[in-house]
Amino acid sequence: MARLGIDFGTSNTAAGVLVGGRPYVIPLEAGAQTLPSAVFMDFADQKFLYGSSAARAMMDGQDGRFMRALKSVLGTPLAREPRQFMGQRLTLLQILARFLAEIKTRAQTHTGLVFDQAVSGRPVRFHSSDAAKDQQALLDLQEAYALAGFDAVEFVPEPEAAALAVNGQGMVLIVDIGGGTSDFTLCERSSSGTRVLASKGVRIGGTDFDKALSLKGAMPLLGYEAMLKDPLGSRYYPAPRSLFHDLASWEKIAFMYDPVTLRDVNNWIRMAQDPDKFVRLAQVLESHLGHDIAYAVEAGKIAVNSGHPGTIDLGVIERDLSAELKSDVVDQCLSDFATQIGHAALETIAVAGGEKEQVDTIVLVGGSSQMGIVQSSLATCFPKVPQETAEVFTAVVHGLAHIAGEAR
Ligand SMILES: Nc1ncnc2c1ncn2[C@@H]1O[C@H](COP(=O)(O)OP(=O)(O)OP(=O)(O)O)[C@@H](O)[C@H]1O
Ligand SMILES: [Mg+2]
Repeated sequence: MARLGIDFGTSNTAAGVLVGGRPYVIPLEAGAQTLPSAVFMDFADQKFLYGSSAARAMMDGQDGRFMRALKSVLGTPLAREPRQFMGQRLTLLQILARFLAEIKTRAQTHTGLVFDQAVSGRPVRFHSSDAAKDQQALLDLQEAYALAGFDAVEFVPEPEAAALAVNGQGMVLIVDIGGGTSDFTLCERSSSGTRVLASKGVRIGGTDFDKALSLKGAMPLLGYEAMLKDPLGSRYYPAPRSLFHDLASWEKIAFMYDPVTLRDVNNWIRMAQDPDKFVRLAQVLESHLGHDIAYAVEAGKIAVNSGHPGTIDLGVIERDLSAELKSDVVDQCLSDFATQIGHAALETIAVAGGEKEQVDTIVLVGGSSQMGIVQSSLATCFPKVPQETAEVFTAVVHGLAHIAGEAR
């Protein structure tokens, strides 16, 4: 019996063990260190697909239901609402548990070991402004591990796990900006080990960036902020915004395709000043294209951040349909998030009772730490502190593998 380190992320998941005193990341799919945290329920074959296969099935337009960012629903009522899928009543928590069970199976197949226990990462805060929701999220995740067949699970704050695995000596601030949360640990590292001084977390991540950019670039092409005419008078008002906010939120897209929503949109077509946009929206809902849009926005974000021309390619909706994503507009859209991330980093030092001048190095972890605007905000808050990039997608699982391999 053995313990498996699992970094179950909003966007990507990794699993690892300690081999010969070193962390070994188990390839959960061929040639990859991480597996997209995605599930596809294939209605035709009545089976579940995971990771890249799930994303491919969704993009190929196969009949089924795709879900990503399931971690974001932990602690919310959505996690426990039963729904009918493939002839079964399932909650999202049960679907999430199936994903974790698949990780367990793949890790066992690859290593030949039996993993009865898990050492799992957790964000410092799943929900930064609601302690009860935060606690519920942890209970939900614990239950999902039990349903997945683990007899026990030990939770470790994600940046504290990363702190065990990155380089750097002296006072090190770990900044882990992922898909769903931003997590910070101030630690003192020396040849004799790593001492955690304080950790902090806020619920901001790359999926929030995607949502903001979708509302800016993609959703207006589907009628966001377009006007409807009141049927009983001559008043004009914007189409209800909540639909667009949900359609731009990774974890909610899967629930947009119900007949009631489509009926509302078909009514809007009749009431609209500019019906073409709502016709497009109806087509997106009918053809289940919400996730295709989210992927296009995410790709546009990463392209702009890498200095390439920024476009949200919406060719999947209509030939040649796209939205421009200029880098100054991206920065403007994300500047509040970046400021909050910088402040949370400063607060971590304050919680430890230290001064920002005492920090020797900032170590960046997590996919969204690659965003230029995040790095600039940290540079503004810590003007003299050098920033280093660690193994952004695997630093956390390396640390979890260390803990999983410790003698008990
Ligand atoms: N080159 C890049 N530039 C900017 N953002 C990127 C880049 N590559 C990936 N991302 C973003 O990083 C995020 C995923 O990062 P990561 O895999 O670290 O998150 P996670 O561990 O799944 O989430 P969390 O830890 O918050 O639960 C996504 O939002 C993705 O769009
Ligand atoms: Mg992460």
